[in-house]
Amino acid sequence: MRPRVFVTRPILDEGLAILADACDVDVWPGDLPPPRADLLERLRGVDGVLALLSERIDAEALDAAGPKLRVVAVHAVGVDNVDVAEATRRGVLVTNTPDVLTETTADFAFALMLAAARRIPEAVDVVRSGEWRCWGPKVLLGRDVHGAEIGIVGLGRIGRAVARRAAGFDMRVRWFDPLASGDAATTPGRCDSLGGLLAASDFVTLHVPYGPATHHLVDDAAFAAMRPEAILVNTSRGPVVDTQALVRALASGRIAGAALDVTDPEPLPPDHPLLGFKNCLVVPHIASASLATRAQMSVTAATNLVAALRDERPRNLVNPEAMGRR
Ligand code: GLV
Repeated sequence: MRPRVFVTRPILDEGLAILADACDVDVWPGDLPPPRADLLERLRGVDGVLALLSERIDAEALDAAGPKLRVVAVHAVGVDNVDVAEATRRGVLVTNTPDVLTETTADFAFALMLAAARRIPEAVDVVRSGEWRCWGPKVLLGRDVHGAEIGIVGLGRIGRAVARRAAGFDMRVRWFDPLASGDAATTPGRCDSLGGLLAASDFVTLHVPYGPATHHLVDDAAFAAMRPEAILVNTSRGPVVDTQALVRALASGRIAGAALDVTDPEPLPPDHPLLGFKNCLVVPHIASASLATRAQMSVTAATNLVAALRDERPRNLVNPEAMGRR
């Protein structure tokens, strides 16, 4: 009997083809996530699930799937939507898609930084709305990115890729890592505290995974430490920033602006206060959304899933402790 797999939304064909070769595949149709009741229903009795970051895979979902479930393959690098401890306890492998999205996400963080610094969305609006009358020496003055001070919060794969780009813009790079991994410690530009990094940075860009240690890492105190000319860029996870504190910081002019690929909540309702600030650029969680990278993410997630179902060690195993627990 071929193993049964549920895919919580259509992913790119490259990944689906790998799954279809090895499994019976049920794909939730359409662009929106399955409602919770449907998710639980479709999980029943599956051997594996390929989940997007919008699907919460917690104890209830693992219960719904039942004892045959062997793997949750996440189509993202962040796995904060999965209760990894609970999966581990049950011997369910959890995998993610690191590496393949590093450069694309770093490109996007830089794109957001440049767009916010040079006020590109506001400038586009000026042209579209017919307000563009003539060239003007004071029109839409922004901030230089080249030569500025960049503070990178989280020096993992993506943080380092941003640092490489920053070097090409002659930026002075500083970093702080609340979850400091050993090998980062030798990289120059290390700050001992978040406050120290924030006080020194024209641009602050977030690249930490989300979890209890990074929940609301950027709060009122963090905004108080930032320079008034600073721009915050977030391509990590929305709740790394305290949204209400960000609203206060923008409303009071405490910082110069923000550029957000991720928000809390997500999606952001159209009447959310953050969308009322011209100097707050918000896009819908698309940092890894290049054609090539989304294809590679689908292949990586599918390959991890199939490996787990073959009792092989998936390349991107998040919880090695779960191996052999069943
Ligand atoms: C996207 O946000 C990811 O974690 O891959």
